[in-house]
Amino acid sequence: MIPLVDLAAQHREIADEVQAGWRSVVERSAFILGDEVGAFEEAFASYNGIAHCVGVGSGTDALELGLRACGVGPGDEVVVPANTFVATAFAVQRAGATPVLVDIDAESYLLDLHRVKDRLGPRVRAVIPVHLYGQLAPVDELQELLTGTDVVVIEDAAQCHGARRHGLHAGSLGAVAATSFYPGKNLGAYGDGGAVLTRFGELAARLRALRNWGGEVKYEHPEPGFNSRLDTLQAVVLHEKLRRLDRWNTARSAAAERYTNLLGSVPGVTLPTVGPGNEHVWHLYVIRVPNRDHVVDALHREGIGAGIHYPVPVHLQGAFAHLGHAAGDFPVTEEAARSILSLPIHPMITADEQERVVAALRRALGT
Ligand SMILES: Cc1ncc(COP(=O)(O)O)c(C=O)c1O
Repeated sequence: MIPLVDLAAQHREIADEVQAGWRSVVERSAFILGDEVGAFEEAFASYNGIAHCVGVGSGTDALELGLRACGVGPGDEVVVPANTFVATAFAVQRAGATPVLVDIDAESYLLDLHRVKDRLGPRVRAVIPVHLYGQLAPVDELQELLTGTDVVVIEDAAQCHGARRHGLHAGSLGAVAATSFYPGKNLGAYGDGGAVLTRFGELAARLRALRNWGGEVKYEHPEPGFNSRLDTLQAVVLHEKLRRLDRWNTARSAAAERYTNLLGSVPGVTLPTVGPGNEHVWHLYVIRVPNRDHVVDALHREGIGAGIHYPVPVHLQGAFAHLGHAAGDFPVTEEAARSILSLPIHPMITADEQERVVAALRRALGT
């Protein structure tokens, strides 16, 4: 078996530190907003070069609270790429706004800025570039496009821990960057977790209130809010993993390079591309193949944990039927959904395992 991601192998590296950290939290009963949460927030903010980090309950909450903190709500439209995990669009809906879907760039699978431009209108209050698969969407070019408007950029940074574009991490250009610590992410917790990064002190203060029933002071609630705080036990895990993130991302890059070398000569396979100025952290290694469903089945039969991110685009999900879209509306996204395939990648994958993945892929493709 070669899994898509091997979380047990990562745990082995930090098991002792996590055990000691968790024991300390339990002994102090510091479960809610214990010191470890603040310490992790500070460390993660500093790692990203962003002034503020607010830990919340999940990546979906991070997006919703980020939108709300920026004043996005009912009557507003938010531009979202059709190729993303559904949570991006759900968060917009949870904030009371309406997602406006746009197609993606065929090479990078990221938001297509030309299409964003076409969809800007009087009700659009925000755009969410999703930094999918481990590389940043062109936030700098998006900001340029939005110059002179009051449209805010909310970055979906769930899949790009450690990635940079022109030397800058997510959150450097947008109003906020919302991230997820879902276990399988490059920086993953042992349960749900998320965070919002922002350069703006005022937004950080609003976010701290929003995550804690609308107020930072006990029993004072100046505005409506939620219960969505990063768990102290998760902060312990995340802090230990953060110390290893760069090393683990370097191992992912080496693995990606190895796949690229091994797959370069395989007919029919389209390799992933890295945008100019981007440092990719290879959350996922996404290729395109002919007869994808047959190939995935063949890989699974051989014990290879291939995945599809994502098989059904947002506009074809029942939950978004009310947006009134039909098959054919976003052809680039739909073609990607039919042909993309994620190969196993994680910091501990070995060269031998990757060679076995590629050999199985060649058999599945009949090459
Ligand atoms: C691109 C993207 N956005 C949002 C989310 C939502 O994060 P969470 O599962 O922590 O709510 C995820 C991951 O699950 C994601 O991959």
